[in-house]
Amino acid sequence: TAPQPLIAGNWKMNGLSASVAEAKAVAAGLGQTPARVAICPPSILIHRLADALKGTPVLVGGQDHHWDDAGAFTGDISAEMLADAGAKLAILGHSERRAGYRETDEVVAQKVSAALRAGLEPIVCVGETLEQRQAGDTLAVVTGQTRGSLPADLRGKAFAVAYEPVWAIGTGLTPTLEQIEEVHKAIRATLVEQFAEEGRKVPILYGGSVKPGNAAEILHAAEVGGALVGGASLKAEDFLGIIRAL
Ligand code: G3H
Repeated sequence: TAPQPLIAGNWKMNGLSASVAEAKAVAAGLGQTPARVAICPPSILIHRLADALKGTPVLVGGQDHHWDDAGAFTGDISAEMLADAGAKLAILGHSERRAGYRETDEVVAQKVSAALRAGLEPIVCVGETLEQRQAGDTLAVVTGQTRGSLPADLRGKAFAVAYEPVWAIGTGLTPTLEQIEEVHKAIRATLVEQFAEEGRKVPILYGGSVKPGNAAEILHAAEVGGALVGGASLKAEDFLGIIRAL
């Protein structure tokens, strides 16, 4: 049986306290959906969103956290703090963290372990740059990141992988369906190699310029188990349009 789809919105560094209304509008407009739906706002809004969404099916998640549980890390935030504020999931290894904060697969894997210790469900991101795609390295890069970023303690735990081609993020460009399916199948094979049959239950999300207009075909592609949505998750109407495409 296919994993239950997950559609997660990544607000990135967008949203202020007024944006709680947008999250509430998502919950109000959700209706019947086969998907689990999550919104990942900046960490300072997690508490407010978790309160506002209490009693609704919309989950709240973080966008990143430290690999250690607590300590002298000025400016950082722990997985346990996110969970304490009401988060159920955490996006980890996003390309904006890998590129902008030099996060390696090893760092991402340590963060994943920290998420599990705090009871958070990790959404682990992988994806190639344009240069890597043009060099024909996409599958090697993505399967390498998948292997390196998923620690063995994920065994028996709920988690998702998100395939986000770096060149498709925020650009309006998307891979062809064939390209998406090719990469998702390679990720699935890697998951099965690492986690045996359990690896078949992991939703593999696609992320990168998902919009209401292209969501249906992407969400119905082989091995696509949901979406990680950036820009189009900021407006309830757009995010709902994507969820309804499922
Ligand atoms: O985490 C979300 C992705 O980076 C996709 O962002 O939908 O704005 O292209 P985007």
